[in-house]
Amino acid sequence: MIANINARSTTSLDGQWQAIVDPYDVGAVDYRAQPLKSNGAFYKNYKPQSKSELVEYDFDSSGQLHVPGDWNTQRDSLLFYEGSVWYKRSFDYAKSPKKRVFVHFGAANYMAYVYLNGEELGQHEGGFTPFDFEITDRVRPEGNFLVLRVNNTRGKDQVPTVNTDWWNYGGITRPVTLVEVPETFIQDYLIQLEKGSTGQIKGWVQLNGPQLRQNVTIRIPEAGLSKSFQTDPAGHAEFSFGANLTLWSPENPKLYTVEISSETDQVTNHIGFRSIGVRGTDILLNGKPIFLRGVSIHEEAPLRSGRAWSEDDARTLLGWAKELGCNFVRLAHYPHNEAMLRMADEMGVMVWEEVPVYWTIQWENPVTLRNAENQLNELITRDHNRAALIIYSVANETPIGDARNRFLSQLIQQAHSNDPTRLVSAALQADEVEEGNRLSIRINDPIANELDVMGTNEYIGWYTRRVADLDSTDWTSKYDKPLVMSEFGADAVFGLHGDSQARWTEEYQESLYEHQIGMLKRITFLRGTTPWILKDFRSPRRTLPGIEDYLNRKGLVSDHGEKKKAFFVLQNFYRQLQNAN
Ligand code: GCU
Repeated sequence: MIANINARSTTSLDGQWQAIVDPYDVGAVDYRAQPLKSNGAFYKNYKPQSKSELVEYDFDSSGQLHVPGDWNTQRDSLLFYEGSVWYKRSFDYAKSPKKRVFVHFGAANYMAYVYLNGEELGQHEGGFTPFDFEITDRVRPEGNFLVLRVNNTRGKDQVPTVNTDWWNYGGITRPVTLVEVPETFIQDYLIQLEKGSTGQIKGWVQLNGPQLRQNVTIRIPEAGLSKSFQTDPAGHAEFSFGANLTLWSPENPKLYTVEISSETDQVTNHIGFRSIGVRGTDILLNGKPIFLRGVSIHEEAPLRSGRAWSEDDARTLLGWAKELGCNFVRLAHYPHNEAMLRMADEMGVMVWEEVPVYWTIQWENPVTLRNAENQLNELITRDHNRAALIIYSVANETPIGDARNRFLSQLIQQAHSNDPTRLVSAALQADEVEEGNRLSIRINDPIANELDVMGTNEYIGWYTRRVADLDSTDWTSKYDKPLVMSEFGADAVFGLHGDSQARWTEEYQESLYEHQIGMLKRITFLRGTTPWILKDFRSPRRTLPGIEDYLNRKGLVSDHGEKKKAFFVLQNFYRQLQNAN
C-alpha cells in the first residue's frame, strides 16, 4: 500500500459512478454458479455489436451512485440491501513518461473485486482500510473503464462476523484516486519519537522500484534538521537521531512539515512528535500522567445519514467532542477514514483505533485470523505517522476462552512489533460479584496481561441492574495497569422527557451519567473514559417503533445534531477534570 497519497500527484475519480445492483451475482457467475468469463461478465462492460446480439446488462443506462458513499442511504430501495453492486467509472488518463500509476481506494465494504479495461486487477477483503493496485501497463490515454463488484454480504468467517450493532453500509465508502509516482518511489516510512523518548527520532523508509540502493534524506526545515543515510539492497533504511522539537499535545497540536527525499522521489508530510507510554496505572503523554477525557464515535456523517468520509464530517464530529471537553476519542469498532485521523492531528484530539474483532468471531479459523491480521496491518501502515493515534485496540467484547486468547495474543504481538511506539488495548468484559449490598467488579481477563491499557465496557443502570446500584459499585483489577472505561451509557430520545426512572427519556440518561460519574471517580486505576456514544447511530438491532426506528439512541447528540441533557453532565465532568489539572 502506498503511504500518504495525500502528498502525491493524484487524480480524483470521485463523483457519480454507473451502478448495477446485482443481488444474484448474475454479472459474476452463471446459473451453475461457475465464474463467468464471457462478455456476459459485467466487468467486461460489453455492448451488443449488432441488433441481434444478446447482452443483458448495460452500465450506462443503469443509474448512478455517488462515490464515495454507502449505497444504503442513496436509494430507499437499498437501505437494507446486502449483496453485490457493480460500479463502473470511465476515464481518460494522460500518463507522464517514466512514471508509475496506481489506483487507490480509501475503503470499500466488504469484499471488492476490481477490474480495469476488462481485466482483473485483484480483490480486497475488509470494509475499513485502504488498498491499491498498480495499473501502469494497463491504463490507456482514452476510454478506460474501472469496474468494481462490491459485496457486503455478511459471513461467519469474516471480520466483523454476521452480528454487529451497527449498520452494514455497503459500497465504495471512501475516495478513489489515481496516484502517479516515479519508477522508484518512497512507498512507506515511519518517522516518530523513539518509544519512551521525547528527544530521539527513530524510524525507517522503504523504497519500491528498480533502483533500491539510494541516498535518502529526512528534513525538518523548521527545526533545522537534515539527516541523510543509505538504503540497503532491499530499499530499506532504519535511522535514529536526536531532535529538539516542540512536542504535540491536545493543548498544542504542533505539526512539523517533514520532507522525505531520495534520489528519485520526494514526499512531504505534516507530522507531530509526542511520546506515549504507561507507568503502573498511569498513562504518560510526553512523560506526564494524563487522563483521557473521551467519547466513542461511529463513522456516521454528523448531519446527514450514512457513512462519514470527508474533512468536514471529521471537523464537525471532533468539534462536538471538543465541545464536550474531550482530548480523546474512541473510533469504534473499525478503522475510520483517514480524514478523521488527520483532523485529529490538527485539532489536538488523541485517538483510539480498533479493528472489527467484535463479539464472537471464528477464533479457530486461520483464514479469519489472517484477515484480522491484515486489517490491523493496513490500519498501522495508513496511520503510523499520526501523532493523534495513541492506542490500537484489537477487540471489543470478546468471550474469554483459549482459542480467543490465542487469537488476540497474536494481534497484540503484531501491533507491538509493527509499531512499538504506541499502546495496545482491547474492550474487555469484567466479572461482577455481589458482596453484601455492594457490587464488586473485577477485571481479571487473562488477555489484559499482554495489554498496555485495559479497556472495559459496562452498562450498569441500562442492561444490568438499576441506576442507583452505581452508587454501591466498586472496581478492582488483577493488573497494575491503567483502565479506560471504553463504554457506558443509556438510550434517550431527544426531546422525550419524564422522570429519571422513565427509560428512553433524557432525564433517565442524564441521571445515569450523574451516577456513572460518581462511580468512575472512585476507581483508583481509571485513566480514561469513552462513553457510548457521541451521536445516535443506525443499527439493524434496534427495531422499537417510535423510539429506536433502527437507531441506537445512546448518543449524547441526536441524529439531527441536537444535544441531550446528558451531554452537559459529561461536559461538566470533563471541565472539572480539566480545571483539576
Ligand atoms: C456494546 C457494543 C456496542 C453497542 C453497545 C450498545 O457494548 O460494544 O457496539 O452498540 O453495547 O448496546 O449500545
